[in-house]
Amino acid sequence: MADMSTRYISPEEALDLAPGSEHYTAYVGPPDDYDFMGATQFRLLCALGLREHHRLLDFGCGSLRAGRFLIPYLKAGNYCGIEPNRWLIEDAIEREIGADQIRIKAPRFLYHDTFDCSAFDVAFDYIIAQSIFSHCGADLIARGLREFAANLMPQGLAAVTFIHPDPGEETEPSSGWIYPDCVTHPVSSIQTWIREASLHGVQIPWHHPRQTWWLLARDPARLPSDEGKRLLHGAVL
Ligand SMILES: C[S@@+](CC[C@H](N)C(=O)[O-])C[C@H]1O[C@@H](n2cnc3c(N)ncnc32)[C@H](O)[C@@H]1O
Repeated sequence: MADMSTRYISPEEALDLAPGSEHYTAYVGPPDDYDFMGATQFRLLCALGLREHHRLLDFGCGSLRAGRFLIPYLKAGNYCGIEPNRWLIEDAIEREIGADQIRIKAPRFLYHDTFDCSAFDVAFDYIIAQSIFSHCGADLIARGLREFAANLMPQGLAAVTFIHPDPGEETEPSSGWIYPDCVTHPVSSIQTWIREASLHGVQIPWHHPRQTWWLLARDPARLPSDEGKRLLHGAVL
């Protein structure tokens, strides 16, 4: 449960808080990135073909950084979010989204940390997991990827982020949830986990201030060609 004294300060006052602090703009990352990190996820999904009739899972949706753009865009009932910290969603609704938008667009939420994505009873066209696997050890990544494979449409696409180690950097084996610290995972390990989940994956150059975006699919033909990858740059001029 969030610390009440910090939770209710304004977003402007929260700008100095460290990532992971008990405020809806800070718990999910650097608070002055709250707007940008939501917008870039929305832009990426639109570049990948997201339309209003698609069904989307925002895995680890946090304080709806992306949700505040996706919920108005998608048709009613088509946004699903999983997030164990319920207060993040409650504060985002109260302070960014509004009860009317929730009534009109009927987003669906689950508040658990089991990685189970099946309870919505939906095969998703898109799954996004931004800054989730960068906080997961190998055990949770394997579980998460298996869940994504089981709950994606045959032609569905998942967009996820990882942090790669710097050249020459040693990576320690990790397990469980690590937060707010991050964990790095070598590309070779990521490729193995993707393969073991019966998925196919590619890195894309979509701009991220700290992490690397990967696209995952059940059907390898769904992944972008080299030319398509070049167009997925997410540049900010
Ligand atoms: C770095 S934040 C990213 C939030 C969101 N994806 C975004 O881009 O704003 C990581 C989020 O994962 C959530 N989380 C922690 N354990 C989780 C689990 N087992 N399943 C799903 N989400 C989890 C945290 O509560 C937090 O909101």
